[in-house]
Amino acid sequence: MDDLQAVGLGTMGIDDPATIETAIELGYRHLDTAQIYDNESIVGEGIERSALDRDALFVATKVWIDKLGPESIEESTAASLDRLGLANVDLLSVHRPRGDYDPETTLPAFDDLRARGVIEHVGVSNFTVEQLETAREYLAAPIFANQVEYHPLYQPTAALADAQAHDYYLVAYSPLANGRANDIPEVVEIADKHDVTPQAVCLAWLTAKDNLVTIPKASRETHLRANREAPDLTLDPADHETIDSIQREDEIFPE
Ligand SMILES: NC(=O)c1ccc[n+]([C@@H]2O[C@H](COP(=O)([O-])OP(=O)(O)OC[C@H]3O[C@@H](n4cnc5c(N)ncnc54)[C@H](OP(=O)(O)O)[C@@H]3O)[C@@H](O)[C@H]2O)c1
Repeated sequence: MDDLQAVGLGTMGIDDPATIETAIELGYRHLDTAQIYDNESIVGEGIERSALDRDALFVATKVWIDKLGPESIEESTAASLDRLGLANVDLLSVHRPRGDYDPETTLPAFDDLRARGVIEHVGVSNFTVEQLETAREYLAAPIFANQVEYHPLYQPTAALADAQAHDYYLVAYSPLANGRANDIPEVVEIADKHDVTPQAVCLAWLTAKDNLVTIPKASRETHLRANREAPDLTLDPADHETIDSIQREDEIFPE
């Protein structure tokens, strides 16, 4: 299985190829985009400008819910590749299990793209454990990743346990609570104790978990740099327990 960087780059809202180029210069190798972000061409331009060997990058995109019929998957993936300027993507995911999603027809179309080398791995996003079980019945490829919202205020631990049990990646999105890390008192207190930022605490807490990688979005260079370094921070076991036991269900992107 390809090794995914502990901290990749979430690109939702990034509208300048220079940000992608800077991220690559700073060592980001896992880039996450989606058809619905309307920025695949920006990501592609950043990749091209970086002149990094294509094989050194792990590029992931997602098919939006109105393109999950078999023919639309084929067409829209071809359009994604065109915008990205790539011959293939490393990971193609079902963005959400709704709209045109039908496991019986959607997932074999993903298998077909994989068999033809258009995509390296098949992934899903925003899937519950039950939806993953159903997906496994229809998908020949192993599920490579499930991308879900995961931060101190929303902790889908059942999805993480499933990823660990079946040994695939849980890709934690909105790891900084979509910019709200400074408003979480428990996290701020731990950050003060270690003399680091609340954002570093969120990322260190997440990336210490088995099978979990994360994709904070950052456009400022200071943020890009800090987030790459965050997994070097070792929190105390008690810090992990404190954050693990925050009982809030503030989901930012509900299904
Ligand atoms: N699969 C899905 O359905 C789904 C849904 C939502 C998001 N996602 C993915 O997850 C990625 C990240 O989630 P998100 O964009 O919701 O939010 P996020 O990563 O939790 O937070 C991003 C915000 O935090 C700021 N930030 C980043 N690093 C920081 C640092 N070190 N210190 C202080 N502030 C910092 C960013 O500011 P600057 O930009 O100014 O640097 C931005 O405002 C998205 O880009 C997308 O790829 C996936």
